[in-house]
Amino acid sequence: MKSIFIAILSLSLLYSCTDKKKETTTNKPAQKKVIKTTKPVKEPVVIVDKNGVANINLTTSDAMKFNTKKIVVKAGQKIKLTLSHKGKLDKRVMGHNFVLLKKGTKLSSFASKAAAAKNNDYIPEDDSEVIAHTKMIGGQEKTTIEFEAPATGEYDFICSFPAHFAMMKGKFIVE
Ligand code: CO
Repeated sequence: MKSIFIAILSLSLLYSCTDKKKETTTNKPAQKKVIKTTKPVKEPVVIVDKNGVANINLTTSDAMKFNTKKIVVKAGQKIKLTLSHKGKLDKRVMGHNFVLLKKGTKLSSFASKAAAAKNNDYIPEDDSEVIAHTKMIGGQEKTTIEFEAPATGEYDFICSFPAHFAMMKGKFIVE
């Protein structure tokens, strides 16, 4: 009789132990999930530093895309724009640049003039429609330019590599 009692006691102890284990193991993955959802925080494209300079971080890859279709800054603000190419392809194949165009510039006609200017880094010799532009870069390259934000309004930015502007364009909004 005594041995049966001990057996039942130890069984129930064993049961409660495994039960606790179950609880802790089911809790853990739930906590991990929470961490996972908070991890991929998208870095803001524009970061204004303590001197009031708008640091713009544009990234591209071997896909014909900028990481944003909209950049918002303030009129007259100092801008430090960095374009990074995270891809592997050479600039002759998958070149990217950032070209900010004056208001009223017709994208398709500017793009065809740019496409014809291969010897000038795909910037037309007559650059009167250009407010600012970076050099053309390829995979694993990076380039930075500094300029002052133009007057309030909505401007277009593109990559002027042949045929890229259809995919690689966005709005540069000056408030
Ligand atoms: Co491009």
